[in-house]
Amino acid sequence: MIRVGVIGLGYWGPNLVRCFSELPNSKVTMVCDRDVDRLIRLTERFPGIRPTESVDDVLSSDLVDAVVIATPTQTHHQIAARALDSGLHTFVEKPLATSSAECRDLIQRAAANNVRLFVGHVFLHSAPVNKLRELIDNGELGEVCYISSTRLNLGPVRQDVNALWDLAPHDISIMLHLLGEQPTAVSCTGLAHLNRRVHDVCNLTLHFRDDRLGIVHVSWLDPHKKREMTVVGTRKMAVYDDLQQEKVKVYNKGIDAPSHSSDFGGFQYSYRYGDTYSPWINESEPLKAECAEFIRSIIDEEDSLTDGVNGLQIVQVLEAADASLRHGAARVELNQELVAPDLVAVAHV
Ligand SMILES: NC(=O)c1ccc[n+]([C@@H]2O[C@H](COP(=O)([O-])OP(=O)(O)OC[C@H]3O[C@@H](n4cnc5c(N)ncnc54)[C@H](O)[C@@H]3O)[C@@H](O)[C@H]2O)c1
Repeated sequence: MIRVGVIGLGYWGPNLVRCFSELPNSKVTMVCDRDVDRLIRLTERFPGIRPTESVDDVLSSDLVDAVVIATPTQTHHQIAARALDSGLHTFVEKPLATSSAECRDLIQRAAANNVRLFVGHVFLHSAPVNKLRELIDNGELGEVCYISSTRLNLGPVRQDVNALWDLAPHDISIMLHLLGEQPTAVSCTGLAHLNRRVHDVCNLTLHFRDDRLGIVHVSWLDPHKKREMTVVGTRKMAVYDDLQQEKVKVYNKGIDAPSHSSDFGGFQYSYRYGDTYSPWINESEPLKAECAEFIRSIIDEEDSLTDGVNGLQIVQVLEAADASLRHGAARVELNQELVAPDLVAVAHV
């Protein structure tokens, strides 16, 4: 039984407490928040868990084997570094940290202390995303031309990070997973309407090898809640709508260009309108699957898909996108060697 301490009981933390409490091989033994009202509400709902206002209490307790950090992004590195140095397996909510230097530091501390570092890229543990990956891997969609996504809602507005760092880690992590590689370059535009220093709306373009594109639109200033991703392949197209009952739909649609034509009149595109179907998906709660994977990685002493290196890869894209945002949507190249092989080796010992 892995004993878990959860730090941060705001909007998201209580969901993590519930999931770890419901797993057969983990139990939440401690919770921590600076806000006493939140501690009281949580322990009323989950009696038997020891509450504390102090992070140090959790990190020095002999009641915990692992910690889950669900505090604001700006605090992730500071709390996670201390947790790793205390010899605790550490789950950090997304994004892993506020810079790639911080992520590298956490990866090295996890390796030095021989503990697991895990990041909350929850969608990489979700059945619809696994289904999209399967449709790509088995060739049903053909070659992927581009992936576009929209993640919109009215709020919640954050003060410590912009909409890009708050919302786009989900879309970026899914796109990198589906395409199996880092982008070569990014560009990003945005609008900072409510607070001059914090962007509320961002449009991020990710350039991948072979002219493949990822387009991410995020906003917390929109009347509609949308969680949609479209994968356009040379054979078929797939749409993943996380708000629908049937989350993935496959469209046998496309446009084929003639291989060659000697005259302009003969150059005709042919449109394909075929069937649409919704593949069966073995749905389980993604958050619970994510928590189960963290516990499995501890028990099996094996890294997970969403380990520290994965956290670093997403933060590198966010950093480059931020640089583009500050320089009028300039194209920012991503060094393919940024995730240094030595760091990957360190993380996977
Ligand atoms: N995976 C997802 O879908 C998802 C969804 C929402 C939020 N998140 C992530 O979860 C994290 C928290 O987000 P939230 O919306 O719950 O934020 P929140 O502001 O609602 O809650 C944060 C909590 O942390 C507490 N806190 C802050 N610093 C602390 C400290 N030093 N010691 C103890 N407690 C401290 C605050 O009092 C607050 O209760 C963020 O990293 C966010 O990106 C992930």
